[in-house]
Amino acid sequence: MAGKLLLSLISLSLLQGAFASPTRLEARVSGTLDSWIAEESPFALKGILANTGSSGSQAAGASSGIVVASPSKSNPDYFYTWTRDAALTMKQLIEQFIAGDTSLQSIIEDYISSQAHIQTVSNPSGDLSTGGLGEPKFYANTTAFTGAWGRPQRDGPALRATTLIAYGQWLVDNGYTSLALSNVWPIVQNDLAYVTQYWNQTGFDLWEEVNGSSFFTIAAQHRALVEGANFAKSVGKSCADCISQAPQVLCYLQSFWTGSYILANFDSSRSGKDANSLLGSIHTFDPEAACDDSTFQPCSSRALANHKVVTDSFRSVYDINSDIDAGKAVAVGRYPEDSYMGGNPWWLCTFAAAEILYDALYQWNKTGTITIDSTSLDFFKGVYSSAAIGNYSSSSTAYSSIISAVKTYADGYLSIAQNYAPSNLTLSEQFDKSTGASISAANLTWSYAAFLSVVNRRNAVVPAAWGETSASSVPATCAPTSVTGTYITPTATNWPTTLSGSSSAVATTTALTRKSKGKASRPSTPASTAFKSSVKKTLGTSISYPIATKVAINSA
Ligand SMILES: *[C@@H]1O[C@H](CO)[C@@H](O)[C@H](O)[C@H]1NC(C)=O
Ligand SMILES: *[C@@H]1O[C@H](CO)[C@@H](O)[C@H](O)[C@H]1NC(C)=O
Ligand SMILES: *[C@@H]1O[C@H](CO)[C@@H](O)[C@H](O)[C@H]1NC(C)=O
Ligand SMILES: *[C@@H]1O[C@H](CO)[C@@H](O)[C@H](O)[C@H]1NC(C)=O
Ligand SMILES: *[C@@H]1O[C@H](CO)[C@@H](O)[C@H](O)[C@H]1NC(C)=O
Ligand SMILES: *[C@@H]1O[C@H](CO)[C@@H](O)[C@H](O)[C@H]1NC(C)=O
Ligand SMILES: *[C@@H]1O[C@H](CO)[C@@H](O)[C@H](O)[C@H]1NC(C)=O
Repeated sequence: MAGKLLLSLISLSLLQGAFASPTRLEARVSGTLDSWIAEESPFALKGILANTGSSGSQAAGASSGIVVASPSKSNPDYFYTWTRDAALTMKQLIEQFIAGDTSLQSIIEDYISSQAHIQTVSNPSGDLSTGGLGEPKFYANTTAFTGAWGRPQRDGPALRATTLIAYGQWLVDNGYTSLALSNVWPIVQNDLAYVTQYWNQTGFDLWEEVNGSSFFTIAAQHRALVEGANFAKSVGKSCADCISQAPQVLCYLQSFWTGSYILANFDSSRSGKDANSLLGSIHTFDPEAACDDSTFQPCSSRALANHKVVTDSFRSVYDINSDIDAGKAVAVGRYPEDSYMGGNPWWLCTFAAAEILYDALYQWNKTGTITIDSTSLDFFKGVYSSAAIGNYSSSSTAYSSIISAVKTYADGYLSIAQNYAPSNLTLSEQFDKSTGASISAANLTWSYAAFLSVVNRRNAVVPAAWGETSASSVPATCAPTSVTGTYITPTATNWPTTLSGSSSAVATTTALTRKSKGKASRPSTPASTAFKSSVKKTLGTSISYPIATKVAINSA
């Protein structure tokens, strides 16, 4: 950590030296990058909880477990729950939970229960079995939003499946297979059915603008099907349709590669350079994967080449980037042609640019090699001018120099964010392209989640593998396929009491502790009936477990 601190101090001062205009760069959050991270991290977590029902301070009226996109109710009105934003946010809370913050368990379970309900809400995209899972957003009270909108958005079910699997797999790994089967699998199964049925149809992209096929969506769908098949096995089920469709989804994903960067959408009115693809690579990052081009892993030549092309595309369109030298981090927005709210950098896109690099650093560290080929050469030259095609093992000096250059470069993106972040630590949706001032929706939940995610990666805290290592091979020919899904109303929404910090959390059984692998572990409690017997059936051991009223969230 001392080395990292020093590195970030150096990178910050280099960065400041690179700017000609001191007024623009006046640091609103003073201190080192590490000190900002230390302050912003707990604030970001609180920001997420504040935006989550039913007890979040900024989310009055939101149902239990419902994540609103932002408390902002006008210009813009984001007081809705988007399936995508909510899933990506909860994915992060689950990561924090698994890393040890057991206080989050209750809100995670509330979210899962809320999704069991929301899947059944008829909406303009359909009902549970006729496409309704692709509906992008609902009112915070979980009723359908019936106004005009860019629908369907087919990334939502895939992202939600990934999030639920993260928690479901944790349950399995910690001895709660029965609970994973009753409360998590039915929701996941529906979302997987949706993906197997609709992946080969058009829909709106994650920015809700382009009706077509989108890299982020297809990448998220591939990941969901692969881990869905594995999770099914974990709970004693199977997902043959996941197994049949996943290779075809991966096959189609290849068509987004232009040869020098990732085309975000098949849309001739735009360059296709878009943070969509940065978000795709960080969402499908697998800590066990090699630097595979086929799945656009963060350390792959394709992802790195794309990183340079996408981030460079913002150099000339934002005033705040105009004095920054090539090879130094910049403020990053959605796509260079963006005009929404004037077209500005977004916090979450700038964080994503850093996150890919931290992911790549993790992967290089794990494999002990950096490969520079003709595809990635420009990326490497940008950060390390003497880069040349070749394989560099961790014992070489080139390897160490590249690692340190990439780390500095990654920290540069966070330093840009730090420089413009308000001193009161709130993160909105965007920051002004000319002044850096915080603009658009205040307290954007996804901004906070993206911040926590990039900080974890910077600290080499990574999520569980999703199975990329056995799902990266691309079929020789692509085919337009689909399987009509089977949808079943999920009904299990009772959870055993978590009782974090409660004096009645006792009687841990040997079965539970023996199987406990994660840092967080569920304290078991004395009690009763149906749940008890279902757990017993799975674990074949004597466990006391209640079906109890939940502890109120955010009460501690
Ligand atoms: C849900 O919220 C919307 C928007 O605020 C409101 O119009 C609607 O009446 C609410 N529905 C219920 C059942 O409370
Ligand atoms: C469906 O898949 C085929 C084969 O990969 C592809 O050529 C086609 O563009 C896809 N269409 C959509 C809308 O996904
Ligand atoms: C989106 O495109 C599809 C064709 O790919 C079309 O059927 C559908 O009506 C379009 N949706 C909207 C809202 O324009
Ligand atoms: C690199 O790997 C070593 C152990 O193999 C680990 O201690 C270290 O934290 C890793 N660093 C990064 C940046 O992942
Ligand atoms: C780097 O290693 C890969 C796989 O081991 C090999 O295919 C490639 O030819 C090597 N590249 C160079 C420039 O040595
Ligand atoms: C925090 O700072 C932002 C940006 O300057 C400002 O818009 C917002 O009103 C402030 N919020 C609070 C609660 O102080
Ligand atoms: C943003 O969140 C902070 C902290 O929860 C709160 O004080 C502030 O009022 C919120 N701002 C808006 C505009 O919702």
